[in-house]
Amino acid sequence: MKKIPKEFDPARIAAHAESAQQIYREENNAKEPMASVLANNPEIYFVPPQRRSDWGKWEFKPGSYYDTTIGSQHPFWREQDLPQPSKDIRRLRADLLNWGYCKVEDALSAEQVATLRQRVLEQAEGEQLAGIAQRTPSGQNINCCVNKGRCFELFIEQHPSIAQGGPLVEQLVTEALGPGWICTSLIAAISLQGGVPQALHQDQNNNLDSRSPMSVNILTAITDVDEKTGGTLVIPGSHTVLADAVRAGKPVGKLPPAINMDAKAGTMVITDGRLLHGTGINHTDQPRIVMLNGMQKPWLRQQENWMLSVRPEVLERASAKLLHRMGYQATTGTQTNEGHGFGAVGKLDEAAGALVDFRLAADKGAYQRVGELRPDADGEMLNAPFTLRDVVGKARAGGVSAPVGIGSKGLNATAE
Ligand SMILES: [Fe+2]
Repeated sequence: MKKIPKEFDPARIAAHAESAQQIYREENNAKEPMASVLANNPEIYFVPPQRRSDWGKWEFKPGSYYDTTIGSQHPFWREQDLPQPSKDIRRLRADLLNWGYCKVEDALSAEQVATLRQRVLEQAEGEQLAGIAQRTPSGQNINCCVNKGRCFELFIEQHPSIAQGGPLVEQLVTEALGPGWICTSLIAAISLQGGVPQALHQDQNNNLDSRSPMSVNILTAITDVDEKTGGTLVIPGSHTVLADAVRAGKPVGKLPPAINMDAKAGTMVITDGRLLHGTGINHTDQPRIVMLNGMQKPWLRQQENWMLSVRPEVLERASAKLLHRMGYQATTGTQTNEGHGFGAVGKLDEAAGALVDFRLAADKGAYQRVGELRPDADGEMLNAPFTLRDVVGKARAGGVSAPVGIGSKGLNATAE
């Protein structure tokens, strides 16, 4: 056997990889902004679960990040013009930009709230009885809601039949994230009495110095939330405070206090992915329900693995919009399947990037993938009913020119 060049020996590589020599080491190992947030705001440390008994009774403690109150009652915040429930797009834009969140008033009608509330409570009980309930330190989460009721499929689409304010919310999300955004997950978060608060965190744990959000979370109150019922904890304005500090290479200093978000059932609160927040404590004996419906730039990995998890029946009836939102439209740079998707830009119903037929074929046990081929393979092998052939054929029949990866030049056509 030929000797491998000495430069490729792992011991030699390690000897030439002292930390001071490594490129981008600082960037790739940065612990900011949370390192300085915690160092300069020690009260923010997550409360360990063994102190669960501390959370039984509501009490406002000035200076505390967890035993706090709503903005209009907080001595630090009550004179400030914090986000107000509104249907006015100008007010909502300004609130999202300045404070990192805005409250879309009556985004769900009372009937729409009742539909979701009933479905969430029934599902929660069903999952408990089935022994697969997903408990959290705050209560119970219902994950992958898209499989658990038609109302949730429509909710991800922000369809006016389940969220009357959907079109306004979509416009604000498009302004925040740019076109082409997709959904990261839909979870029903139920806070129950005796739960502990969630540690304050940023959902966006990448691009921490970004000038605009990479993700937003749409929190929909299905029950009224406030300081007693487990209103989400937020530090207003923290989205820019943290990002500005990282960009300037400076530590984050003393932060203003957190408040409980207050919102009537039916309010959709759009939060910037950089905002410091966490689940609040429910001090009542009634369940607190907030739908967590995150949206993100289309190039980020999604929280829910919709490619595997969505039920076949749901996929078969899914609208082009729902499929797109779940990530079933590939682009050249994301989620291509056996090369299908090269040349696509991630539009709704774009045949050049449509992936759903691969998944449906797999569900039927009929997904035939292209494997090893060679010039002397027999005709049967070369003419096998590859699913790729069907999907590309369908796209071509719909007027799409051959994807870059397929054709006379073969896969090399896409090299580099
Ligand atoms: Fe979060």
